[in-house]
Amino acid sequence: VDALLAAGVARVVVGAVDPDERVAGSGIAALQAAGVEVVSGVAAAEVIAADPGYFFHRSNGRPRFRLKLAATLDGQVAAADGTSQWITSPAARLDAHQLRAAADAVVVGAGTLRADDPLLTVRHEDFSGEQPRPVVIAGDAALPVHRRIYERNPLVFVPRAVPLIEGCEIVVAGGKDGRVDLLLAAKEMAARGYLEILVDGGPTLAQALAAAGLVDHFTLYLGAKLAAGEGKPMFPGPFTALSEASPMEIIAVSKVGPDVRIDARPQEGSH
Ligand SMILES: NC(=O)c1ccc[n+]([C@@H]2O[C@H](COP(=O)([O-])OP(=O)(O)OC[C@H]3O[C@@H](n4cnc5c(N)ncnc54)[C@H](OP(=O)(O)O)[C@@H]3O)[C@@H](O)[C@H]2O)c1
Repeated sequence: VDALLAAGVARVVVGAVDPDERVAGSGIAALQAAGVEVVSGVAAAEVIAADPGYFFHRSNGRPRFRLKLAATLDGQVAAADGTSQWITSPAARLDAHQLRAAADAVVVGAGTLRADDPLLTVRHEDFSGEQPRPVVIAGDAALPVHRRIYERNPLVFVPRAVPLIEGCEIVVAGGKDGRVDLLLAAKEMAARGYLEILVDGGPTLAQALAAAGLVDHFTLYLGAKLAAGEGKPMFPGPFTALSEASPMEIIAVSKVGPDVRIDARPQEGSH
C-alpha cells in the first residue's frame, strides 16, 4: 500500500480481499482514505482458485484437503491381497501427478507406506517446482525400518512417542481415541506452511478423514475395470441407512484416457 501511494497510482483493481485477519481489507481502506479509486472482487473466483489452500486456511483455520482415490468402476481401491497397482491407466496416473504438483504436502497412512513403499514425488516431465512434503499418519504398529520415502524427510504423525526413525520428522499428535488426532495433525501441517494437502493414501485413512469432515474436495478416478467382487472398498466401515450418506456436489466429470475422473465436494452446509 505504501509503495502504491508513493508511486501515485490513481486506481487499484483487487481480485479477492485477503481474508487474513491481520489485513482483511485494511489495505483497501488505507488506499481509499488516501483518495485512490479501488475496484475489488474482479475475477475473485479465479484469484482464489490460483491459491485455494491459502484462502481456505485464512477463512477456516486449517489446510484444505483434497482426497484422491483410484478405484475400479465398482469402487474397489485394491484387491483382497492388497494389490492396487495399477487400477487406472498411465493417462490417469499422469493426471494424478498434476494433483501432487499443486499440493504443498502429500499424505498417506501407515498401511500404504507398508504396502506400496511410495515415493510421493511429482513425476511429470515438465515439473520443475518444489516437491510436496511427504506426510505419514501412523498408528501404534511399528513403522518399517527402511522405506524409500525416508530419503525425503517425511513428516510422520504418531499417536504417542516412538523411537526416532532416521530421516523422519516425528510429531506426536495423539487423540482421545488413541489414534492420531487428524485435525491436530492438519493444524501442525499448516504451522509448517502446508496449506494445500493431497491425501494419496489408502481407504482406512480416507474413511477417517471423511468421517471427521476434513475432506474438502474429492478427486476419484474410476478405472475401466470391473472387480465384480469385494477386495478393499473406497471407504471401509458400516453404511447402514441411506440417510447416513452425505449430499455431494459434483463439480466436474471427465474422461482421462480410458478412465473416468470425478471431482466433487460436500454440499454447502453438510460439512
Ligand atoms: N487405489 C488407491 O487410490 C490407493 C491409494 C493408496 C493405497 N492403496 C492401497 O490401499 C491399501 C492400504 O490400505 P490401508 O487402509 O491400510 O492404508 P492407509 O489408509 O494409507 O493407512 C491406514 C493406516 O493409517 C494409520 N492411522 C493412523 N492414524 C489414523 C487415523 N486417525 N485414522 C485412520 N488411520 C490411521 C493406521 O496405521 P496402523 O495400522 O499402524 O494402526 C491405519 O492402519 C494397499 O493395498 C494399497 O495398495 C490404494
